[in-house]
Order: sequence, then C-alpha cells, then structure tokens
Amino acid sequence: MRCGYPWAAALRQGKDAVPTRLLGRRAVVVGGPAGVRRFYDPRLRRRGAFPSAVKLVLFGPGTVHGLDDAEHQLRKALFLGVITPEAVVALGERAEREWAAAIDRWPGRERVVLFDEAVQVLAASVLPWAGVPVADGELPRRARQLATVLHGFAAPGPAYARAVVARLQVGHWAKGLVRGVRAGRLDPPPGTALHEAAHATDHEGRLLPERVAATALLNVVRPTVAVAWFVAFAGKALHEHPEWRERIAAGDDRAVDAFVHEVRRLYPFVPVLAARAREPQDVLGVRVPRGGLVVLDVHGTDHDPVHWPDPDRFDPERFLDAPVDPDTLVPQGGGDVVTGHRCPGEGVTLTMLAVAVRALAPLPDTMPPQDLGYDITRIPTRPRSGVVLTTGDRSP
Ligand code: HEM
Repeated sequence: MRCGYPWAAALRQGKDAVPTRLLGRRAVVVGGPAGVRRFYDPRLRRRGAFPSAVKLVLFGPGTVHGLDDAEHQLRKALFLGVITPEAVVALGERAEREWAAAIDRWPGRERVVLFDEAVQVLAASVLPWAGVPVADGELPRRARQLATVLHGFAAPGPAYARAVVARLQVGHWAKGLVRGVRAGRLDPPPGTALHEAAHATDHEGRLLPERVAATALLNVVRPTVAVAWFVAFAGKALHEHPEWRERIAAGDDRAVDAFVHEVRRLYPFVPVLAARAREPQDVLGVRVPRGGLVVLDVHGTDHDPVHWPDPDRFDPERFLDAPVDPDTLVPQGGGDVVTGHRCPGEGVTLTMLAVAVRALAPLPDTMPPQDLGYDITRIPTRPRSGVVLTTGDRSP
C-alpha cells in the first residue's frame, strides 16, 4: 500500500508471474494477458481474498466481490438485471441533464472544481435512477459521504477514519431504504437497484439480510460516483490535449470513444485484485499452496509496454479502429462479466465519462495555473488540484 500503483509491476519486471510473500503467506503476482487469463481461472476463489479492513469499508458486508460459485452467480444476476443496456442509456440521459444544469450554474461562481462537480452530478444522476428518493438538501451530503468512502478506504490515517465514519453513515442510510421498501413505505419502480436489492433472495429463497441488500444497493451507487475520479483525469487530459478537445467539441463520436478508453487505461484507479488458491496449484510456473494469494497487477497490465507502446503517453489513437482486447485492458477487471467477477459497470463508466467529456469539451478553457500532477503512491489518486476549471466570472 505504501508503494502504491507501481508495486506489482516493479516486482514482476515484465514477467507473467513472480513469487512473493504477502500477509505472511506464499503468494504470486500475475499480470499481462496470460496473467489475466490465469487470474480468472475457476481454480481460484474470492472468499477471504481481500483484507477485511479494505473490504468492509469500501464494499460492505456480504459483498458480491467476495462470493464464489452459485452464490456469486445469483448475486451477479441482480446487478446484470439492473444495469441493462437500456437502463445505461437512461442513466446517461439523466447525466446529460445534470451536467447542463451544473454548467448553467457556473458563471459568476468564485471557483469551480471539476472533481467536486462530478461527484455531485454523478450522485444526482444515479440516485433517482437507482430508485432512491433524495431530498434536494440531502443530495450534496450523500454525494460527499460516498466520495469520502472512496477517497479514504486505502489511505492510512485521518482519511481512513473519515472513510469508516462515512461508510457507517451510508450503510445506515441504505439499510433504512431497504427497510422502507420491505415495509411498503417506499415504492421504487421495478428494475431499479433499490427495488431489486430490497427484494433479492438467496439460493434458498430467503430475503437477503438487510445489511447485505444495503451493500448490493451501494455497490451500484458508490462506484457510479467513483467515475468522478476518471472525470477529473478526463478534465486534465482535455486541457493538456487541445487537439482532442477540438475533435470532441466538433462532435466526433469516434474520438469520444477512443478518448474515454484511454482515460481508463492511462490514469490509475484500481491497482491490483486478489484471489486465493482453492487447492495447491501451479500458477504460470509458481507453486502456490492451498489458500495462497494470487494478485493480479491491474495497473501494470494496463501499462504493459509490450501491448501498449509508450504506455505513459496519453494517446487515444491507440483505440481508433482497434478493437479493445479484453485481456490487455483491465481497469475494471478481466474475464467474463456474467460468469466471472468482471465489473458489470463498464457500460455505465464509459457512458458517464463520455457524457462528461461531451459537456466539457465545448467550454472555453479558462483553467488557472494549478498542480494537475498526481501521486502514484496514493490509492485512489487524482489530480492534486481537483482540476480547477475557473476562478472567476466566465459569463459574457
Ligand atoms: C467489480 C472497477 C465502476 C459495479 C469491479 C472490479 C473492478 C472494478 C476492478 C473487480 C473485478 C474483479 O474482481 O475481477 C471499476 C472502476 C469503475 C467501476 C475502476 C469506475 C470508476 C462501476 C460501476 C458499477 C460497478 C459504475 C455499477 C453501476 C461493480 C460490481 C462489481 C465490480 C457490482 C463486483 C462484480 C463481481 O464481483 O462479480 N469494478 N468499477 N462498477 N464493479 Fe466496478
């Protein structure tokens, strides 16, 4: 955690798999397309793979991330049922309206920080879409709490303490929403995350415990707010690459797609993923005991110079006319989304990023001098300034 994003790649030195010791156990770090395929092999399980201090704060009790086999399949179906292609389009339309409303409020504002705006816009879009009733006054607070969980879950010190408090607050709120639906006080539309989480059952047909249903609801809402980290990086990229800004502002949809893929590839978010060996086994030439940790180098795979020439350069051209290889681009995990643990929110992420980029590109670039650098030892990282768009009146 102290080394941050480069840790696993530094250990691998370009190899598919290297042995190491983690949390007192023999472990192996894998990466690159071969490592990705091996990581999603059913000989590995997720139960017990994440440290509880991270898992409980970021994801919550009973989260889908730590389930295996039939239990995982059943819970995964809940997410896939909620995040349908049509639902993603509807969420994107909400986000378009929210960005337009937010941008209308900017003229005359003292200071506009893109990261903070994105947190509010994303929360304002996803909460009603998820069937969650929020009063206007409540929205900014809930948005901030969700962002606080994400900002601090992996950071030792006060940020972690604030993340724990925020997790308790959002967990309590989400449990209340589930209880409200079950008691008939709230009536979210069928198909929304709140409706489906509140009515979800386990493999024996029993309603999920309230706290587990709350975790499922938050597993839709929280990661949608997490897209704010990528929006901040997209703001940095639009500023530093005016040629792409112009193409996007001119309505070039292929440029938008390539741009958002490159934002997800280049800028760090998830550093590694973890699984455990079900039985003693050979992992790409490294012997791993039963229960041994297998760590996937997500960041290093997305920056592998063999597959991504000049990997630290922002270059959306890589994605123009080139199909995305799912085993070399893994910012949201690899493998199969239905049967494996791959993120079911890739469509949401790409859509929310594309909507943000389309809204921002046509605006005049009035960014004051600031520190757009980011700390690669901090998880999750983002541009230090938060991306200040303007510090004065932009109105004509
Ligand atoms: C899983 C990344 C957005 C819902 C994951 C995984 C990663 C990831 C790396 C783990 C894959 C694995 O364990 O193999 C991201 C990033 C996002 C994002 C970087 C954007 C900033 C979303 C969104 C949603 C979502 C928008 C929902 C609307 C989930 C869920 C899982 C998951 C439910 C658990 C899947 C499972 O265990 O089967 N995500 N995600 N994520 N993500 Fe995302």
